[in-house]
Amino acid sequence: MNAPQDTLPVVGTARPHESAHLHVAGAAPYVDDIAEVQGTLHAALGLSPVAHGRLLGIDLDTLRAQPGVVAVFSAADIPGANECGPIVHDDPILADGVLHYLGQPVFAVIATDRLAARRAAALAKQVIRHEALPPVLTALDGHAKQQYVVPPMHLKRGDASAALAASEQRVSGSFSLGGQEQFYLEGQISYAIPQEDGGLLVHCSTQHPTEMQHTVAHALKLGAHRVQVVCRRMGGGFGGKESQSALFACVAALAAAKLKRPVKLRPDRDDDMLITGRRHGFEFQWEVGHDAEGRITGVEIDLVANAGFSADLSPPVMTRALCHFDNAYWLPAVAAHGYCARTNTQSNTAFRGFGGPQGALAIEMILDDVARGLGKDPLDVRRANFYGTSECNVTPYGQVVRDNIIEPLVARLEESCDYRARRTQIAAFNATSPVLKRGLALTPVKFGISFNVAHFNQAGALVHVYTDGTILANHGGTEMGQGLNTKVAMVVAHELGVRLDRVRVTATDTHKVANTSATAASTGSDLNGKAAQDAAKQIKHRLAGFAAGKHGGAVEDVRFGNDRVLVNGLSVPFDELVQQAYFARVQLWSDGFYATPGLHWDREKLQGNPFFYFAYGAACSEVVIDTLSGEWKLTRADVLHDVGQSLNPAIDIGQVEGAFIQGMGWLTTEELWWHPQSGKLMTHAPSTYKIPTANDCPADFRVALYDTQNPADTIHRSKAVGEPPLLLPFSVFLAIRDAVSAVGDHKVNPPLRAPSTPEAILDAVDAVRAATAEA
Ligand code: MTE
Ligand code: MOS
Repeated sequence: MNAPQDTLPVVGTARPHESAHLHVAGAAPYVDDIAEVQGTLHAALGLSPVAHGRLLGIDLDTLRAQPGVVAVFSAADIPGANECGPIVHDDPILADGVLHYLGQPVFAVIATDRLAARRAAALAKQVIRHEALPPVLTALDGHAKQQYVVPPMHLKRGDASAALAASEQRVSGSFSLGGQEQFYLEGQISYAIPQEDGGLLVHCSTQHPTEMQHTVAHALKLGAHRVQVVCRRMGGGFGGKESQSALFACVAALAAAKLKRPVKLRPDRDDDMLITGRRHGFEFQWEVGHDAEGRITGVEIDLVANAGFSADLSPPVMTRALCHFDNAYWLPAVAAHGYCARTNTQSNTAFRGFGGPQGALAIEMILDDVARGLGKDPLDVRRANFYGTSECNVTPYGQVVRDNIIEPLVARLEESCDYRARRTQIAAFNATSPVLKRGLALTPVKFGISFNVAHFNQAGALVHVYTDGTILANHGGTEMGQGLNTKVAMVVAHELGVRLDRVRVTATDTHKVANTSATAASTGSDLNGKAAQDAAKQIKHRLAGFAAGKHGGAVEDVRFGNDRVLVNGLSVPFDELVQQAYFARVQLWSDGFYATPGLHWDREKLQGNPFFYFAYGAACSEVVIDTLSGEWKLTRADVLHDVGQSLNPAIDIGQVEGAFIQGMGWLTTEELWWHPQSGKLMTHAPSTYKIPTANDCPADFRVALYDTQNPADTIHRSKAVGEPPLLLPFSVFLAIRDAVSAVGDHKVNPPLRAPSTPEAILDAVDAVRAATAEA
């Protein structure tokens, strides 16, 4: 399926990931693979042994006396701001005064080798003097104490309580939804190398080089122009390296600046999981009113998130949760209340979907309950609530849904996956199978694309055409495996009409493209693709002007394609024209810039036009559960996902499949467990935290792209693909719930929590049995 690198056209064709040949050969360097500069030292972090306490002191002398130790740093050694939080400045780099969670970095040991540093840092429990304070460990405890990292947020339309009071039927419910560890395969890492005159070069595995540059500069009291942050690639980020790479960058940079030696900080997996935050777990409680068809007339819901000890990205995560509570549905009257509870745990942060999945799953649970209450097929109840195309098409935050394709997309999937016939077959199977129960669910996705903060929606690029006709492209986005560099290279090659193998994309570097945004919110290719296209267009226009001047004909008639330039009936090879243009002193490189148009957002009222467009999708999953053991299997999954006009269908299908399996892991096997007394995260390694493997993929997995053009003027009419498909495996969780519900002949709403581990499934089966026996 993969077209050879030298075939044309480029955009829209399936091409391998730009580093695929390096990935499979183990030849793609990550930060830890960079050849170490002579004199490199290694850092390790000493972690708080308690979930909450007053920090009384650190026995630094003991640490300094350990073999191989060169220096020990604590908060007092930071010359500038001891702060690395992205929005609210409440994130200390090293603990100062208060210990906020078990695992919080308190000091950094710098040693001649990594093991020596880690051995000394492991003495944390002995050398940290503290007075323990009572911790708050759960979102609901924090909520009960009304301790929040930011004030509560309210998204409202109409009068929800009046609508509830006037509803034909009312149901209330609650749902407990766990968080999720990013589990990037390459952990957090930073390698700081002192440069001349107080400058610093930091190789950092980060989604946000510019913010790393700023936090390092602030911590060290340097101008941003002295700090260079470079990232060639990450071994996965998934949101975990958007803000939380900063602590590691700052500590490595601090030590390097103080000692005037290169310093590398690479925590091991357990420390990474104890130090950094992850997807927010949520608790939901709702009351919903509906009619006899299951149409929602009013809904009121509390969303309580475990923010952890600091704000980090919790405010925008909660905003996105609130703005995705509608998912694909028209909610005439709604009051959604978002609370970011402060607890003594890791500070939760971005994770693929950024709160969107949590918000949208809540409405899917509600519709699932409504359908069961009415004895209707959940798909019929969903459909009764879909956004309309000309009316009932305004979101609770005031944006008109102009590009609605929910109904045709769902209808196509419903047909291709044979939903109705399988529903009948499953009912027949369950009627005669007392132990094994099958379940089925089909769920839609609508996901808004853009950063909620308008000014983040900008990007820059730099494109060089060399005199031999090869091209180097650079842009502000980062490569974390998602294929952004491949897509940007394709856009540049396409614009200049050349073979893809003429174009190389190089490491993201704050010295090349300045003031960049995080590669996040799925906007990487939308923003950087447009910026790179802008740069390529400028070069193209100059080359066209030169060609017409030299060979005659109109500038507008000059054509670039098939690796050649067509001018006045003449077909000149691209590299030949470039040579000639160089000798004629034509500028063969250009910068490029892009800012997404039409966005506005009122942060106080939670109203506006926060999204450039929506991406859609739907999935149907079938499972079988064992009601004696709680084990389950996904037997078949059908996915139809909208990426507009795909830039690269091979990469896009990879993103859809990866997101589906990753979201399935979140909702089914990945359980985070903090010790209820000590507050220690006990699931801090793959031995206790179960991510999906190849074996968990369904044997029958049918993934297709829904072929449309994005009506919004995006890069080649494509749509963002990174996050939206993470919501597709709602269908897996709801199929499991459907199977559990079969135990009580679909009369009772199963109190199934997520993740639906075998233990959770058994608990729900027991509860359904008990409720059915009572009735
Ligand atoms: N795919 C891979 N392989 N690795 C990742 O870390 N991160 C996801 C998604 N897909 C990720 C990934 C997240 S959280 C986002 S926001 C987008 O990629 C970011 O990249 P994009 O904007 O270029 O799609
Ligand atoms: Mo993705 S959670 O926006 O990094």
